[in-house]
Amino acid sequence: MRIEEETHAQRAQTHALNRAAFGRADEADLVDRLRADGLVRLSLVAVEDDEVVGHILFTRLPTRVDGREVDAVALAPMAVHPHWQGAGVGSELVREGLARLACEGCEAAIVLGHPGYYPRFGFSAALAAKLASPFAGEAFMALELAAGGLRGEAGEVRYPAAFGIDAA
Ligand SMILES: CC(C)(COP(=O)(O)OP(=O)(O)OC[C@H]1O[C@@H](n2cnc3c(N)ncnc32)[C@H](O)[C@@H]1OP(=O)(O)O)[C@@H](O)C(=O)NCCC(=O)NCCS
Repeated sequence: MRIEEETHAQRAQTHALNRAAFGRADEADLVDRLRADGLVRLSLVAVEDDEVVGHILFTRLPTRVDGREVDAVALAPMAVHPHWQGAGVGSELVREGLARLACEGCEAAIVLGHPGYYPRFGFSAALAAKLASPFAGEAFMALELAAGGLRGEAGEVRYPAAFGIDAA
């Protein structure tokens, strides 16, 4: 299995994978909307025998802390084909994606996801708690990719319209 940047030719497979992993079209359609709106920062796929078995998407997420603009991304969605779940594919996608973004100077990543999954990569609900957003609670988590990336008292994240989330 290899992790690589998604190519245009793989997009249909990625769409089908998201449908299969979530058992519905919502997340696959979200990926298409985020692409259409030019928000994609990094899209990685896990490939086995030329088949896309995993996908992770990072998109630009307008974020400010104490009035300072933060170079931040939203991690969403991510999906691993049901036949491949629990084999470490998702973890590899997260780690590779975060490493690449950190190298590019990205300062922070934000996720709304399973509280039992993302903390192993360093995501913290406590760190996200100071960021005003439509979300609250343990599923809303943040990770600094650069030292002090989210340093400050209070901030906010503004999810682009493609997410279909009402403003806070
Ligand atoms: C969540 C998902 C991306 C994880 O990918 P994966 O390749 O199966 O994950 P890994 O093999 O790296 O890690 C497995 C761990 O994920 C955990 N996990 C998987 N699905 C989970 C869920 N719905 N809630 C909480 N934890 C979950 C497993 O319990 C396992 O934990 P353990 O290591 O403590 O046993 C994948 O299971 C998936 O596509 N699920 C359906 C779609 C989805 O929910 N996407 C995430 C949206 S936030």
